[in-house]
Parts: sequence; C-alpha cells; structure tokens
Amino acid sequence: MADATSTAGASSGDSTLLVHDNRTGRDYEIDVSEGAIKAADLSKITVGEDGDGLAVYDPGFVNTASCRSSVTFIDGGKGILEYRGYPIEQLAEQSTYLEVAYLLVHGELPDKAEYESWEHQITYHTFVHENIKSFMEGFRYDAHPMGMLLASVGALSTFYPESRNIHDPKVRDMQVIRMIAKMPTLGAWAFRHAQGKPYVYPDNDLGYCANFLAMLFRMSEQKFVADERLIHALEVLFILHADHEQNCSANAVRAVGSSQVDPYSAVAAGIGALFGPLHGGANEAVLKMLRRIGSIDKVPDFIEGVKAGKERLMGFGHRVYKNYDPRAKIIKKACDEVFEVTGVNPLLKIAVELEKIALEDDYFVSRKLYPNVDFYSGLIYEALKFPPEMFTVLFAIPRTSGWLAQWLEMVQDPEQKIARPKQIYTGDRGLDYVPASDRWKS
Ligand code: CMC
Repeated sequence: MADATSTAGASSGDSTLLVHDNRTGRDYEIDVSEGAIKAADLSKITVGEDGDGLAVYDPGFVNTASCRSSVTFIDGGKGILEYRGYPIEQLAEQSTYLEVAYLLVHGELPDKAEYESWEHQITYHTFVHENIKSFMEGFRYDAHPMGMLLASVGALSTFYPESRNIHDPKVRDMQVIRMIAKMPTLGAWAFRHAQGKPYVYPDNDLGYCANFLAMLFRMSEQKFVADERLIHALEVLFILHADHEQNCSANAVRAVGSSQVDPYSAVAAGIGALFGPLHGGANEAVLKMLRRIGSIDKVPDFIEGVKAGKERLMGFGHRVYKNYDPRAKIIKKACDEVFEVTGVNPLLKIAVELEKIALEDDYFVSRKLYPNVDFYSGLIYEALKFPPEMFTVLFAIPRTSGWLAQWLEMVQDPEQKIARPKQIYTGDRGLDYVPASDRWKS
C-alpha cells in the first residue's frame, strides 16, 4: 500500500483502490489482487502517530478471505461446485469416494498404481488399537455418537505421538491415511454403542462404503454385504459431503491447526464445529418439519405460514448458493435408488410437493431460495434406518478428507500464520483492584 499523498502510483497486482480518509484528509492507494485487498494494508491507515491502524470488523467472516485455496470452488450464483476443478456432478456420477478423497488430498486424480496403493493403504489401516475400543466402551449407554466420534479422534493423537511432527511430509501422509481409514470404524462403533450391540471389526475384503455398512449392521452372519444400490447411494452421499471450501468446520480445522498441533486434534475441532445445529444438523430439522406437516393437503397452509414469517422452510436457502444447490439435485436422484431397496419414505411425497409449490412461489423465487443439500439427505438416512443423532456422523466421515486437504494446504502455505483475530475492545480500562475482604464488607 502506498500513501498517495506522499508516494504516487506505487502499486502492483490487478489494480488499486484509492481510499480517502476523511479523518485526516490523507489518500491511500491500496493494491487489489485476486479481487481482494490485504487487511494488513488497512492497518497502515492511522490517525495519530502511534494509534492503532484501521481494522476490519467482520463477525462470522462474511466478507473476509482467510486463505488462498485450490481445493474447492463454489459459484453460488450459478450453482457450481467443483473439487480441484472437477464438477461435482461428474464425480458423483462416475467416481468413488476413495478416489475423490485422493483427489482432494493430493490435488490430482490418481493413476492406476497410485489408486491401488491408496486403496490398499486405507484398507490396511481401518483397524484401531484395542484400547480405543475400551475407551469407547466407557461412554454412557446413551452417549451421543458425535460426541463419541469427537473424543475418539482426539484420543487417536495419544496413540500416534509422532503425528505432532507436522513438518515431515511422510508423517503427515501417514496420519491422513490413518484418519480417513479409521473414521468409518469409529463412526460405526459409536452407532453400535448407542444400540447396545457388539462392535463389529472392519472387513477388509470390502470396499470403503460396503465395509462401513457391514460394521453398522452386521449381526450373526459370517459375512455382511449390503445391497449394491445402497452401497452406491452411500458412495454418492460421501462424495457430495467431502468438502465445501471455507465452511465453519473447515475454518475450525485450519484455525486450530494453525497452532501447529497434530492433525487429530485439528480434525477433532472440525468435528466439534460440525456438531452444531447451524452447520451439520439441518437435515434433522427437515425431517421434523415434514413430520409436523403430516400430509400433502397441509402443504399450502404451511407455505402460507412460512411466507407470513411464522417459521422457515427448512432445507431451503443457503448463504452461498443463490441457485439450486448442485448437491440437492444429485441427492434427489439418489433417493430413488435407495427407496427402490428400502421402500419409499412416506415423507418424500410431502417434500416433493413442498419443493414444487415453493419453486413456483414469488416469495421463494424473488429471494432466490432453492432446496439445499439437507432437503433430501435426511429422508435417505432415515430410510437406511439411521437415528437422527447419526446424521452428523455420516457427514463427518466423508468430510474428513476435505478437512485434511484443507489442513495440508494450510500447513504448507508460507503465507499462513497462527489464527489470531483482532477484537474491538468494549470493556472497562485501568480499574483499581479492591481486595475481596474490602469489597465483601457489608
Ligand atoms: N424459509 C423462508 N424464508 C427464508 C429461508 C427459508 N428457509 N431462508 C431465507 N429466507 C428469507 C429470509 O427470511 C430473508 O427474507 P427477508 O429478506 O424478507 O427478510 C431472506 O430469505 C434472506 O435470508 P437470510 O437469513 O438473510 O439468508 P442467509 O444467507 O443469512 O441464511 C440460511 C442462509 C441457510 C441460514 C437460511 O436460508 C436458512 O435458515 N435456511 C433454513 C435452514 C437450512 O436449511 N440450513 C441448511 C443450510 S445448507 C448446509 C450446508 O451447506 O452446510
């Protein structure tokens, strides 16, 4: 940045921004690069000689880029989502979750040898130390599976102390493999725990999603192989949930990881962020809403209530997408595949009717409110016999590859520093401490 009153035209990048400070009458020319200015440049805009420079107040990072990233691209206006440049529609249709995880983590699609080695490594590491099993068994009978997952992932850092050496690429790669491999095991065990059923060990003859389903649902059978259509539907759901650029949990992983802690602790922070109802929990709210509406004939009254501001149409609208969420379109198709096996979830008819009416109604059209990823995903999870508490676990398992891709990028980015936002202090200053013995005198 240049002070235009003293240094004329010193700029580089895309272009510059001319700022006139009415407080001092000074002009500043600030570099604009990739559609952004550096917040640090603003700090050079000062009033007094030794006062703090200008800061940006942005709770929720609504208009602050915290990193440069090449992992995931979203154009919310056009409804575009791409992982490493590949459209989500093509990946969901033609790829597998493990290949997508490789793409996110390594930045490119694998060749045959790379894929086989990746698949072998992930499969080889699905087992967890027996003490993790004892640790999980120690939870209360009604423990929330997401709390169990969070704690168990954090606990893994104690089993792999070398993971603290985050500057060694080999060590980093090993933890990435371990975490992607072990997440389904931990998620399935959290599910079994709540049901009072014995934990099922991984079956390494099966693929990633098939093995997960086996660990969830196997009882006394020697071998449990789920219906191919269900395995495929889960594969698609996992691909759709693998990453979503700088959302709340990715930001949590990056912020915690920026202290250079081990990746298990950083991912545990991401799981904590995802646990919250504003992030991972909306599909459960959709199910409750559909159940409350009860039948198709009640849909018009419900829509009128939403328009009158009585409540929101859950599963509609998005901070980023001002068009149909591309993930929602794909999930809608996956519903048909699942319902072919499980029978149609009776709530589907209500959902379809809601969508039809909303998409024709000016209230929703003018506000650019379209179905989001959560509108149909809960219906599928329910048809697969998952209780609502498992919905966020089903999100966390595939999102692990995205979190790790974001973490790897952050750790290797020379521009990244420990996350440490500024504040605007609003409290008292310079008070004199009065000892308790004086303050508590009656
Ligand atoms: N139903 C009815 N009206 C809505 C809805 C909705 N679902 N969403 C937004 N609006 C209206 C809102 O009332 C406002 O109207 P007005 O301009 O008259 O005041 C306008 O649309 C803009 O809303 P906003 O709250 O400023 O939008 P936002 O970008 O801050 O909120 C949202 C985004 C997702 C929180 C919101 O659309 C919402 O609450 N949706 C329902 C919950 C939901 O489905 N959440 C899952 C999001 S997808 C999860 C993920 O990607 O991780």
